[in-house]
Amino acid sequence: MQCVRKVTEDLYWVGGNDRRLELFENIHPISRGVSYNSYLLLDEKTVLFDTVDWSVGRQFFENIEYVLNGRSLDYLVINHMEPDHGAAIEEILLRYPEVVVISTEKAYMIMNQFNFPVNDNAITVKEGDTMCFGKHTVTFVAAPMVHWPEAMVTFDITNGVLFAADAFGSFGSLDGKLFNDEVNFDRDWIDDARRYYTNIVGKYGPQVQRLLKKASTIDIKIICPLHGPVWRNDLGYFLDKYDKWSRYEPEEKGVIIAYASMYGNTENAANVLATRLVEKGIKNVVVYDVSKTHVSQLISETFRLSHLVLASVTYNLGIFPVMHNFLMDMKALNLQKRTVAVIENGSWAPQAGSKITDLLDEMKEMTVLNEHVSVLSSLNETTSDEMDVLVDSIIESMRD
Ligand code: FEO
Repeated sequence: MQCVRKVTEDLYWVGGNDRRLELFENIHPISRGVSYNSYLLLDEKTVLFDTVDWSVGRQFFENIEYVLNGRSLDYLVINHMEPDHGAAIEEILLRYPEVVVISTEKAYMIMNQFNFPVNDNAITVKEGDTMCFGKHTVTFVAAPMVHWPEAMVTFDITNGVLFAADAFGSFGSLDGKLFNDEVNFDRDWIDDARRYYTNIVGKYGPQVQRLLKKASTIDIKIICPLHGPVWRNDLGYFLDKYDKWSRYEPEEKGVIIAYASMYGNTENAANVLATRLVEKGIKNVVVYDVSKTHVSQLISETFRLSHLVLASVTYNLGIFPVMHNFLMDMKALNLQKRTVAVIENGSWAPQAGSKITDLLDEMKEMTVLNEHVSVLSSLNETTSDEMDVLVDSIIESMRD
């Protein structure tokens, strides 16, 4: 049976939810599933904005047929053709052979690479082009590298709806609640939204900033992303998050302590540090075992907070592999502007600390505190005193 939602008087959400997929992009765990959003406009012409992942194709086609109610499909706008949205393009063309596809030159090129064949009836658009479908006129806005090179967003000038591609999306399936004002976003969604942004789009902060600049010049009333809730009020809340994330500014003053421990002694050092910070009044402290926490969560938390403590055991005369992986991900995602402290552990040749510092030096605007703790197997009186110095140094750096 169809499962659709009305977005405006003539615009329908016709997407689907996947709660079975374990790993988004076969890498990021999605315990709450994910939605693949697609929107169908019924104007003098009928216009579908993007398709969906193949996993929800059956629901998607039933939805389209129901909303079209016997009408033909005139246009398919492809804002973003990554397979989680482009996989159903071919089936759309088979079912609606008269449909005219609207997309960018680069999108057609990559669609061909993926074997998403587009019929000859395709229109190539670029930044600033407009199209009128009857009552609604839309304009196309290039969004290169947000987060693929072909991406664009489409703005409906008539009613202020922005079809935002992957921008403003989130992990999490829609439990019947399509709109941001039907959920408690700040309680139930923001962590997944942050994890989605930071891991999927996080590398491309400057490109997101460019898109936000363009967005500030148009009167957006509704944001229709390709994943997660549709935004129809309080847009400033989410725009502000995007602004912070894409400038790599932390949302909050606070400390994430990420530790890699083999026998519990580096873990003990992390716990001691957390306890002393809290005792001295720094309450916004979270501790994660890097071996047991998915790196996408660590990345998300590192984007959220201002301070990061990396505590790693030495392994094969280097950084413990899971900690190394975390650092590599931080670098790949362009994380910057954080204050970082380092704790190392090693039973005969502790070296993790200097190697962590070397990697941090390769990132932008990372402030590495001079004070650090070098544990020999387990904390003792000397290293406990060093820990006190580190605690004071972290607190001092939070005063800025
Ligand atoms: Fe949701 Fe970039 O695809």
